[in-house]
Amino acid sequence: MSTSLPNTPQIAGSFFARDHSRHPPSYAPGYKSSVLRAPKQTLVSFDSTLSERTGPAFGHNMIGELDNDLIVNYARPGEAAIGQRILVHGQILDENARPVPNVLVEYWQANAGGRYRHKKESYLAAVDPNFGGFGRSITDENGYYWFKTVKPGAYPWPNGVNDWRPAHIHFSVFGTGFVQRLITQMYFEGDPMIDICPIVNTISDKEAIKQLIAPLDMGNTIPMDMRAYKFDIVLRGRRSTYFENRPEGN
Ligand SMILES: [Fe+2]
Repeated sequence: MSTSLPNTPQIAGSFFARDHSRHPPSYAPGYKSSVLRAPKQTLVSFDSTLSERTGPAFGHNMIGELDNDLIVNYARPGEAAIGQRILVHGQILDENARPVPNVLVEYWQANAGGRYRHKKESYLAAVDPNFGGFGRSITDENGYYWFKTVKPGAYPWPNGVNDWRPAHIHFSVFGTGFVQRLITQMYFEGDPMIDICPIVNTISDKEAIKQLIAPLDMGNTIPMDMRAYKFDIVLRGRRSTYFENRPEGN
């Protein structure tokens, strides 16, 4: 067993080391809940075990036909979620811009009014009975994923006196082993709430923030149906997407 400090870049084979200078500190007082949950002591990083790196694996047949259509996947028959219809799509790429196939991509979000369907949710925006807010895809041979949804609403949260989250979609990217999970958030081009979000502002690198903002993609808009937003996720390297978590040792 070997241990190392969490911020020590490690080279494994030909991997690019993760650039930790682009990641915000665990302790960021502007983001109130980080004050209590930030580690008070230096972290210890353990090597992952063989079973953690290789399993448990998920089966491809677990993906349902409607799993990538949040407009209808929780809706009553013949009904649909309320909101602006959008298509979100992109590629999962490695550090050399090569597509990564067979990656489980999960996404979850608030409804068009900014309310999550969760028993602890207390925001007064209405629940949409036809919207669950969760879906998943597996990337194809070109590392490509896509899903249909409604544009989420901004919502207030108890941080400062008047803080709001910009419209966003949470993403989880799952590799082939249990410890290969990365989590991030996607924002929408042109949203003035991004610049004033205390969570976004824990990221000091403006370029890293830009990589979390999906541009409007009129080229893939479906006429008379839905607009498109493109969100590519780069797993590692200098162009890596900013992730909220990081695997041990990376
Ligand atoms: Fe959220």
